[in-house]
Amino acid sequence: MWGPEGLDEVEAELLGPPEELKGKDVLEIGAGAAQCSRWLAAQGARPVALDLSHRQLQHALRIGGSFPLVCADAGALPFADASFDLVCSAYGALPFVADPRLVLREARRVLRPGGRFVFSVTHPIRWAFPDEPGPEGLSVSASYFDRTPYVEQDEDGRAVYVEHHRTLGDRVRDIASSGFRLVDLVEPEWPAWNTSEWGGWSPLRGNLIPGTAIFVCERD
Ligand SMILES: C[S@@+](CC[C@H](N)C(=O)[O-])C[C@H]1O[C@@H](n2cnc3c(N)ncnc32)[C@H](O)[C@@H]1O
Repeated sequence: MWGPEGLDEVEAELLGPPEELKGKDVLEIGAGAAQCSRWLAAQGARPVALDLSHRQLQHALRIGGSFPLVCADAGALPFADASFDLVCSAYGALPFVADPRLVLREARRVLRPGGRFVFSVTHPIRWAFPDEPGPEGLSVSASYFDRTPYVEQDEDGRAVYVEHHRTLGDRVRDIASSGFRLVDLVEPEWPAWNTSEWGGWSPLRGNLIPGTAIFVCERD
């Protein structure tokens, strides 16, 4: 699943036709509980699920799957050059790092020539709107161009959640300057079957503004 709209890889085929995933070495970055790796393994691919959070990987272990789980930072991947055919990430790591070029360069380094890196993030336009599912979430309340990160702190002032904003142009420049070729930018539309509301996500907003941006990048 690439994002809250519900677009899944069976429908999107951004990693290629599912039948061609068999035997492919795939790295999932910011895997969380490794849902994507579990699906990839079911297609016959050989996924490796990587996350910074030991806790998330414990969830992955509890749910199960016979593929490696790696606890590491996406900005310093513990793999040799050209180890993977594909790298993917559904809302993993990229929105949470101050310099996404570190992750992009690492993804490119571990990809074999011709390989793809497909990643989804919150669509940059959402930064300008309140994170509300109702009509209050439809009026611009902040500058789209303000790159000040969103930070939540605990009682001692320690950052416990940080999200970084990049404009669409920033993302394209990050991708190009990391040596990738951008081959597609998918903005999933909110489907009629999805009636769920979750956080700032809802059919009302989803029908009017994009929520997810999926970047399809290739290493030539
Ligand atoms: C929003 S969750 C997405 C999880 C999963 N991909 C999914 O589709 O449900 C983001 C994940 O990225 C991980 N993450 C954040 N920064 C990271 C980093 N620098 N390196 C690796 N993982 C990171 C978090 O620990 C978290 O599990």
